[in-house]
Amino acid sequence: MKYRTIGTDPKTRREVSVLSLGTMHFGTATDEATSFAILDRYVAAGGTFIDTADNYAFWVGTQGGESEELLGRWRRSRGAGDEIVIATKLGARPMAPGTSFTDNAEGLSAGVIRESSQRSRDRLGVTRLDLLYAHIDDPVVPLAETVQAFAALVAEGTVGLLGVSNHWAWRVERARALAAGADLPGYEVLQYQHSYLRPRADLPGVRSPDGMPGMLGGDLLSYLRAEPQLTAVAYSPLLKGAYVRPDKLGAAEFAEYNHPGTPARLAALREVAKDAGATVNQVVLAWLIGAEVPVIPLIGASSVAQLDESLAAVDLELTAQQRARLDAAR
Ligand SMILES: NC(=O)c1ccc[n+]([C@@H]2O[C@H](COP(=O)([O-])OP(=O)(O)OC[C@H]3O[C@@H](n4cnc5c(N)ncnc54)[C@H](OP(=O)(O)O)[C@@H]3O)[C@@H](O)[C@H]2O)c1
Repeated sequence: MKYRTIGTDPKTRREVSVLSLGTMHFGTATDEATSFAILDRYVAAGGTFIDTADNYAFWVGTQGGESEELLGRWRRSRGAGDEIVIATKLGARPMAPGTSFTDNAEGLSAGVIRESSQRSRDRLGVTRLDLLYAHIDDPVVPLAETVQAFAALVAEGTVGLLGVSNHWAWRVERARALAAGADLPGYEVLQYQHSYLRPRADLPGVRSPDGMPGMLGGDLLSYLRAEPQLTAVAYSPLLKGAYVRPDKLGAAEFAEYNHPGTPARLAALREVAKDAGATVNQVVLAWLIGAEVPVIPLIGASSVAQLDESLAAVDLELTAQQRARLDAAR
């Protein structure tokens, strides 16, 4: 395994593995025994960066909490401690079972931030959340209220690092500027959907007619390049398995990848995979980890075999020629 530092403050920054493990389906679609086996294998391989959210997996008809609860049970049964960094998120939990973050999200008011973070600590069985993200933006609550509420949790020691997900770049910068201006800790880890295939930027998103704020686009990439102390975490880097299952890539869920640049990039990927003696998924992960703006892939896995394939990508060093071939395809 390889490691890198997230965060800047010596009191809260952490060393984490360059591959992060998502647990979105753990405790629901992925049963407890399989989830524990995947977690154990990840830790045995040196993995130290686990991701969840307070609303996983609300889509089964609940308000979520199943993933955090499973992680709490796993931590207790394994005696896991501070060596494992667990990131969670709040703000996108539906206010009632059967609803969604699209129409009924808890949001980012001071009250929600306090209460939901407490619930996450209880479910995970920890006294401090290592990394807490704002899961989605709240267009109603004043940004200053959100910034102050997150900073208060850091000040009292119940949260270590702060992160942000699915916000437009200008909202991230505005929140960080507000925090810096008030000498408060701001968002330092940015979690967005990002992979090798490039999405169309002209399609409306589920929460915005202007596009998909969850996609890592040029605005955010240039921001990360200019602020190298920030960390980029890429969710769904394997496009939920679509690289190796073309039927998935053709589904409506991936409409943003249905454009003429996609076949060219898929062809480059296959060529480089053959040349490197690796799988397509491994090339995608290695491309992200070793990029000029380095990215921590946040993978999902529903079996130990899938995890093993992704873990091997950490040791795959793409040559300059292979990287150039991948970057040139469009
Ligand atoms: N911030 C956010 O809004 C947000 C949104 C989404 C996800 N996330 C986080 O990101 C994590 C990962 O998301 P994701 O699950 O979409 O990531 P992903 O790595 O793109 O997809 C994981 C899925 O890909 C398939 N897969 C993985 N390895 C494979 C292999 N070797 N061969 C074939 N299929 C393979 C599996 O699907 P099958 O199970 O169908 O086989 C697996 O469940 C989540 O757990 C969550 O923590 C965050």
